[in-house]
Amino acid sequence: MVHLEFSGTDFDADRIEFIELARSAGLEVVGVIGGKRERPDAGTYAGSGKVDEIAMAAKAAGAELVIFNHDLSPSQERNLEKRFECRVINRAGLILDIFARRARSHEGKLQVELARLNHMATRLVRGWTHLERQKGGIGLRGGMGETQLEIDRRLLRGRMDTLKKQLETVKSRRAQNRHGRAKSDIPTVSLVGYTNAGKSTLFNALTGDATFASNQLFATLDTTIRKVELKSGETVVLADTVGFIRDLPHDLIAAFRATLEESREADLLLHIVDAGDPERGARIEQVEAVLKEIDADEVPRLQVFNKIDLREGETARVETDAEGLPLRVFVSARSGEGLDALRNAIAMRLYPDLADETLVLPPMAARLRAQLYTLHAVKSETVDEEGNCHLVVRLPSSRLDRLCREAGIAPPIRTPTPAVH
Ligand code: GTP
Repeated sequence: MVHLEFSGTDFDADRIEFIELARSAGLEVVGVIGGKRERPDAGTYAGSGKVDEIAMAAKAAGAELVIFNHDLSPSQERNLEKRFECRVINRAGLILDIFARRARSHEGKLQVELARLNHMATRLVRGWTHLERQKGGIGLRGGMGETQLEIDRRLLRGRMDTLKKQLETVKSRRAQNRHGRAKSDIPTVSLVGYTNAGKSTLFNALTGDATFASNQLFATLDTTIRKVELKSGETVVLADTVGFIRDLPHDLIAAFRATLEESREADLLLHIVDAGDPERGARIEQVEAVLKEIDADEVPRLQVFNKIDLREGETARVETDAEGLPLRVFVSARSGEGLDALRNAIAMRLYPDLADETLVLPPMAARLRAQLYTLHAVKSETVDEEGNCHLVVRLPSSRLDRLCREAGIAPPIRTPTPAVH
């Protein structure tokens, strides 16, 4: 693994993440080579002295793959491969490989394949044919790496077009689902955060389900969606999304745009931060940058500092703004500390002026009554002698008004009582 230092980069932190990425790809790291340079060399990125050093080290360790933690051009990759006599990939290639291994859903697989072909297309065009004789791809899995190299450009383009069409179909289905959710008025809360921050663990803790959580980067690739009942009784749709990372390859941002649209159209973003990560400040900025890139930076967000169990003296708590709205919640998804407060904070952010209201419905309003139950908005109910239902409901008043209007029911008699959070 090659990680060079240029002025102004945070050497150690990047290096640790780089090694973690390789391990997440299932690779065995046999050596890490560092070094300082003023600027990249046009032909080999590393410069001839460094290239000799890497070549020797790779040979001595029997390395089958050299990974640069940098953005290599196709021709630099090619030059280095000739020199090292083994495959060379860059950071983007490594991340693409991890994504390829992790994608589970149909859509995820299509997106990753498209991103990989895209990445490969630029390299094939400029004559990568000498590699056809080499065996295996990254991690020597054969499969895509080798076979794709034998496919000519026209076939590659053809395959990409097919993938794009298939993705369009999946995308329209996704949009329909989203539309269905919007119509049922259930708000969507999307979990975002730097890879390994604990999104899946928190998602599981909140939904009481066991989706996959592991100490690997990008264990979650596909959006997982589930309904959750908040402490105050409201139902929300919670969506777990792909982890973000510094310099996420552009092919991937483009490919995952559809998945991330889930975040863009969410009513609230939970930005999960690993509270025990010394780099958390920089990570927050990197996540913000990706959110901006996918046009999700306008969506309201609540920061969740997770893993407080790893920080001595840190306790579960909520930080609020001047109006008392929660901005930051400190929790441990693992121990469960602070999760109730988080559920409340979500409700308060989604429904800042939520209060219990008493609604009197005539017997003919059974449909509206059923709708309110579906929304988990009914707190209690009594029926009077005339058969009118007296419902105590908690729902944003604008939404309640709209539902009443749609049902042709006269405006409700309201006796607001303070919300209990
Ligand atoms: P990606 O899929 O890469 O985006 O990761 P993620 O953000 O979904 O992280 P995940 O939930 O997979 O958790 C990453 C690691 O952190 C796992 O080993 C978890 O067990 C661990 N973890 C998550 N929450 C906590 C916590 O509250 N405390 C501690 N100590 N560890 C946690």
